[in-house]
Amino acid sequence: MTYLNTKSNSKINTKLNTRRIRSFKKEETKHSLQMLTCYDFQTAQMLDETSLDLILVGDSLGNVVLGYDHTIEVSVETMTLFAKAVKKGAPNKFVIADLPFGSYASMELGLSNSIKLFQQSGVEAIKLEGAFPFQLDLILRLTQIGIPIMGHIGLTPQSVHEQGGFYTHGKDESSKDRLIKEALALEEAGCFSIVLECVEEKLAKKITHQLKIPTIGIGSGTSTDGQVLVINDLLHLGKNDPPKFCKPIANLYKSKKQLINDYLK
Ligand code: KIV
Repeated sequence: MTYLNTKSNSKINTKLNTRRIRSFKKEETKHSLQMLTCYDFQTAQMLDETSLDLILVGDSLGNVVLGYDHTIEVSVETMTLFAKAVKKGAPNKFVIADLPFGSYASMELGLSNSIKLFQQSGVEAIKLEGAFPFQLDLILRLTQIGIPIMGHIGLTPQSVHEQGGFYTHGKDESSKDRLIKEALALEEAGCFSIVLECVEEKLAKKITHQLKIPTIGIGSGTSTDGQVLVINDLLHLGKNDPPKFCKPIANLYKSKKQLINDYLK
């Protein structure tokens, strides 16, 4: 059950906005914000008819749609193309698009690329990874010009090489302290919510309690205010098994293959 349907007790899904998301805390509502990724028009049309709260056009499209090894290869033009298609299919949902690798390496780049992605795709918000001082300055400026920003800390796939691989963050004292400081700084800079990716469960809980804005977890336990999953993992659309933290609700790779083979007989 979602926040929206719980509150309104209606099948008509009122579109969320930053004012409502910003004040959402699971502890009070007893429900979890549900976000799924989406990358294409037809899937967006289908999600638009569900009670899903938020849609993320993640740069994970580089991995699951384009077959890249890393999200690093994704460009602003690619993000804009996919985000525009998703927004067209899901006019009634709050859609967030990822700012891709390198496109916010400086204030100037970050401003022009965010404006381009936001204006040309029509999404409601943008997500960017990291909480270094230059990113906090950028978030402040973007929110001041009217572009809502979702933060993203912990495992940040655009920095996979710098972080030294994919692993759980916040296990030792120094990284715990750093992640808490980063989360608070992102809230202070103006983010309306923050994704915690592969953050150690107890730490994710602590951060969630310390913030006024909602945390949305992936591979970070169940205590965050919301959860996000890559839709391809949830539906097992790919050939490979999804990450351990995702329990798929189907195996559409297998089912679709079976259907095509049956058709070909
Ligand atoms: O790109 C993406 O799909 C993401 C989620 C995993 C949070 O950033």
